[in-house]
Amino acid sequence: MSVVNCELNKSLIGIFDSGIGGLTVVKAIQAALPFERIIYFGDTARVPYGPKSEVTIRKYAADDTAILMRYQPKVIIVACNTVSALALDIVEKACGDVPVIGVLKAGAELAVQVTKNNRIGVIGTQATVGSNAYARAINELNPDIEVISKACPLFVPLAEEGFINHLATKLVAEHYLAEIRTEEIDTLVLGCTHYPILREIIEATIGSGIRIIDSAEAVALRTRELLLESGQLNRSQKASVPNLLVSDLPQKFSMLYQLFMGSELPDVHLVEV
Ligand code: DGL
Repeated sequence: MSVVNCELNKSLIGIFDSGIGGLTVVKAIQAALPFERIIYFGDTARVPYGPKSEVTIRKYAADDTAILMRYQPKVIIVACNTVSALALDIVEKACGDVPVIGVLKAGAELAVQVTKNNRIGVIGTQATVGSNAYARAINELNPDIEVISKACPLFVPLAEEGFINHLATKLVAEHYLAEIRTEEIDTLVLGCTHYPILREIIEATIGSGIRIIDSAEAVALRTRELLLESGQLNRSQKASVPNLLVSDLPQKFSMLYQLFMGSELPDVHLVEV
């Protein structure tokens, strides 16, 4: 089955995540690069990745990359912090000379630029927090920064359910963020691409004066830079809707897409993993 009906040959930006979280990156790419064509894969059959083992996450990362590589993308964006933390090397290897951009590095760089008191909070999945990859990336840039991390696994199913402004999300946020609130951080990294969907509640719960970092914007800027440098920006001046692939429940994804992206119900195609 082909979902893309035009000449491929490095014309698409490939983006993947375990589910709907990567749509926050799609939105940022569309804002920064409105004429680029996107192919998005959400592994909705196997979400969430965060509570799974490194071995499993690395296997899933290889499968996700192989699916997008069928469409000969000019760049692959790993819109999943969990994969960026534990399996970026697998993706890079499978991509050969196709460049790979991961959300984690972009988020870490932005947080380092923004903090004034050198105390950064990071929230993410169990796998991302357990890997310590954010603290490593941040301390590589500035070893004086204190990184305080907290796994918030329930945020992923809440986002997948569309519980954006729900009491359950407020209670869960209170529970997860209570500890980190006492740590005098001035910057909080949303270290999971699902979390910006719940940003309003997270921001209100963590309290004012704390800068929230959503790496999607940083990734979009990096992608623009890369395409400019390599002369691969799309020459057409026509915006197009992203091509959407999922591994399960395309109708549910289509409805959530409409909710988050505010556009018409899009066509979503099913692929086997
Ligand atoms: N959105 C993903 C991330 O950024 C994964 C969430 C999950 O599947 O647990 O880590």
